[in-house]
Amino acid sequence: MSSESDLVIEPLNQHHKRAAFFCGIETLDRYLKRQANQDIKRRVSRVFVVRSRQDRTRVMGYYTLSTLSIDLSVLPEKLAKKLPKNPIPAALIGRLAVNLYAQGKGIGKMLLSNAIKRTLAVGTEFAIYAVVVDAINEEAESFYMQYGFAHLASEGKRLFLALKSF
Ligand SMILES: CC(C)(COP(=O)(O)OP(=O)(O)OC[C@H]1O[C@@H](n2cnc3c(N)ncnc32)[C@H](O)[C@@H]1OP(=O)(O)O)[C@@H](O)C(=O)NCCC(=O)NCCS
Repeated sequence: MSSESDLVIEPLNQHHKRAAFFCGIETLDRYLKRQANQDIKRRVSRVFVVRSRQDRTRVMGYYTLSTLSIDLSVLPEKLAKKLPKNPIPAALIGRLAVNLYAQGKGIGKMLLSNAIKRTLAVGTEFAIYAVVVDAINEEAESFYMQYGFAHLASEGKRLFLALKSF
């Protein structure tokens, strides 16, 4: 297990070696190499990187955060009936990946928890009902489901976690 105190989670910056990132899923590697900086500049996504305290260049993992609205119709009925009939504000973890060499050491869990904490902090100023994740495959779905994420109806591999319990 990696201890949080050995690690730093920070916004993607010019010191991070994006080209050396390899998580085993090409689209997630390519995103960091080719797309992430543009998305940050265009203000459509924020990208957070985890690295060891000793090495500010090697990217151990990353996640992206942006916002979205959830249509009431894709939420489970028992939640939807308690909500106003408007689109529901949410935070989107669009991508989350851990470098292959660092997988299985608790870093994915730490990144997810960091993204949720960050969302809760922003949520004191902007209302955010839930965190939504786009799971890239079935393995990723089960990774998220162990933390209480559930499927949004008719949304493929999109899952959500209502923040009411925090
Ligand atoms: C899925 C991924 C993010 C997990 O990160 P990780 O650092 O290896 O996972 P952790 O070590 O933090 O594991 C935390 C828990 O999740 C479980 N887990 C890890 N990978 C899993 C997977 N693919 N499916 C189900 N559970 C998984 C672990 O067993 C662990 O459970 P425990 O706390 O009961 O021991 C990482 O393997 C990865 O980047 N994979 C490639 C990209 C990807 O699939 N991203 C998913 C989102 S799009």
